[in-house]
Amino acid sequence: MPGAIYAEGLVKTFGDVKALDGVDLEVPEGTVLGLLGPNGAGKTTTVRCLTTLLRPDRGRAVVAGIDVLKHPDAVRRSIGLSGQFAAVDEYLTGRENLQMVGQLYQMRARAAKARADELLEQFNLADAADRTAKTYSGGMRRRLDLAAALVVSPPVMFMDEPTTGLDPRNRQQLWEVIKQLVSGGTTLLLTTQYLEEADHLAHDIAVVDHGKVIAQGTSDQLKARTGGERVEVVVHEREHIAAASALLDKYSLRGLGKGDTTVEDHMRKITTPVSGGAKLLAEIIRELDADGIEIDDIGLRRPTLDDVFLSLTGHVAEAGYEDAGADGARDTTGQSRGDRPGKESAK
Ligand SMILES: Nc1ncnc2c1ncn2[C@@H]1O[C@H](COP(=O)(O)OP(=O)(O)OP(=O)(O)O)[C@@H](O)[C@H]1O
Ligand SMILES: [Mg+2]
Repeated sequence: MPGAIYAEGLVKTFGDVKALDGVDLEVPEGTVLGLLGPNGAGKTTTVRCLTTLLRPDRGRAVVAGIDVLKHPDAVRRSIGLSGQFAAVDEYLTGRENLQMVGQLYQMRARAAKARADELLEQFNLADAADRTAKTYSGGMRRRLDLAAALVVSPPVMFMDEPTTGLDPRNRQQLWEVIKQLVSGGTTLLLTTQYLEEADHLAHDIAVVDHGKVIAQGTSDQLKARTGGERVEVVVHEREHIAAASALLDKYSLRGLGKGDTTVEDHMRKITTPVSGGAKLLAEIIRELDADGIEIDDIGLRRPTLDDVFLSLTGHVAEAGYEDAGADGARDTTGQSRGDRPGKESAK
């Protein structure tokens, strides 16, 4: 019996871009899978294939026990989706948008109204409820889109970057809503650029790069795989970055497959995986001092999910949107909610 979301060998090509190159996933019922990956990795394409918005060239997918390619309509009735690009009707008010979704799901008018009120409250939109969505800010639209995806609680939910563009307070609140949803038995696949979010919400994390899942496990498993402790040094002078990096490199666990010394130039920060604890730290401080390298900060720390991401993909995770057009074809149609599959549908 496959999990609530199951994908095997999904391939999708756009012209000469291989967006998906054999994606395999399994999400057990009632759990959250966090899909992480750099821009253009294939996260949105994966979500669109699983939600019937896009037909994969090859592969198999089962969602809520239903074959996605054979029975897309039935899948649509069993899922909720909130997209990377909010799908709200500009000319309706926030309240009308939510009530309309309720009606699409055959809720009685009174029930749809009550549910809309509840969600408007939960997503801090009560004050703006009777304004057209056209007048909403980016964060408000996103919240409305998320609220729309939650009008009914489907057994399986997909959220593509649900909290991108939300301020910290709204993000926290959404996390609470998501936790409630999952404790009620919903299975969730969520993509995010915020590693902290994946750490916080996801039972399992799958890292995608170049259209493939390159690692999957719990946050702790992935961290363990990335190696143990690391030394982090912030040098005072930018000119000292190279010398300090060469020095730290001598202590690095390079060659053990545990990642190399990394430099974050703008922060004058150098990080390297080590073993040897506090004793080693003292030795490094003495050497830096002997070489006349002044430091602002130094410490030992356990790997974070950022380290995992960096060592797996060679990119630092980037929160938020890249410059428009940076990687060409940013898809602006991958959006829908519930049973409204957007402009295109699986054929
Ligand atoms: N409709 C399309 N036409 C052409 N190329 C596309 C289309 N949709 C996606 N791609 C390409 O497929 C690749 C994967 O895109 P996708 O949107 O799935 O990435 P992503 O992981 O969601 O990235 P981001 O973090 O920027 O949202 C990219 O190279 C993208 O340019
Ligand atoms: Mg995307």
